[in-house]
Amino acid sequence: MFKINCLNPVANVGLNLFTKHYEMVDQFNDANAVLVRSSSVHELELPHSLDAIARAGAGVNNIPLEKCAENGVVVFNTPGANANGVKEIVIATLIIASRDIFGGVNWVNSCKEDPEVAKLVEKNKSKFAGTEIKGKKLGVIGLGAIGVLVANALNKLDMEVYGFDPFISVDAAWKLSKFIKQAKSLEEIYRECDFITVHVPLTDSTKGMFNKETFEMMKDGVKILNFSRDSLVIDEDIVEALKSGKVGRYVTDFPNPKVCGVEGVITVPHLGASTSESEDNCAIMAVKQLMDYLENGNIKNS
Ligand code: MLT
Repeated sequence: MFKINCLNPVANVGLNLFTKHYEMVDQFNDANAVLVRSSSVHELELPHSLDAIARAGAGVNNIPLEKCAENGVVVFNTPGANANGVKEIVIATLIIASRDIFGGVNWVNSCKEDPEVAKLVEKNKSKFAGTEIKGKKLGVIGLGAIGVLVANALNKLDMEVYGFDPFISVDAAWKLSKFIKQAKSLEEIYRECDFITVHVPLTDSTKGMFNKETFEMMKDGVKILNFSRDSLVIDEDIVEALKSGKVGRYVTDFPNPKVCGVEGVITVPHLGASTSESEDNCAIMAVKQLMDYLENGNIKNS
């Protein structure tokens, strides 16, 4: 009998795949395998019984990879399983970043009791005018499962899309999307694009990649979307760039007290992959990976 512990709730459609050879246990310390979403495993002592951890999601920064490797614990994630959910929230918030929809909605709510509200509209709506995304340049940094979906979708909405990814061969990326223009460097994205969306993992080389120096290269009023990880961006530098107008909007999936509430910031409470479809897909992929590993020794991260 394999003992499975869920550190976070994982969709039943995945858990129901476990056969009679598996038992769900409440204790991490008893487990042969662990399913986790966003809780941190860094502080936990890995029990001797533990063979595998499966992250029902893409990022693995909440898992101590080195410690797992030293202890022979195999780590899985679910690349691509929630990519469509993230793609859709990027499209939604990119448009929200171009049109002052929140400003307009808040204004209507603030005067909704006023019997003259309809008359006030004409006088006030110019404050909430926006710009269109058609024809604007979008830089997509990171051309993994999410980046490619985002690039294709926003190209279909008539944006001119530039992609950059140092780790994917140009041929591979361009086979995935013939519509993405190839940026030769990150600097080209920074200098040319009106919108930048980032889809890279948090690593030593991506941590703090958005900082004073990189903001300076960007177009005035650039709009940046971060559905990857908070620490890609230096807090003090984004706040300063927003205050000076260098950055026009910053959409982030990561509530951060140093950045929340600053004018131009749109913060979403880590909703990127919070759709029932994404949660189901991640749970199914994670559970299948664990069973294949525990029963057959197969390590397949897909
Ligand atoms: C991911 O890493 O897959 C996303 O941040 C979504 C999530 O953690 O749920």
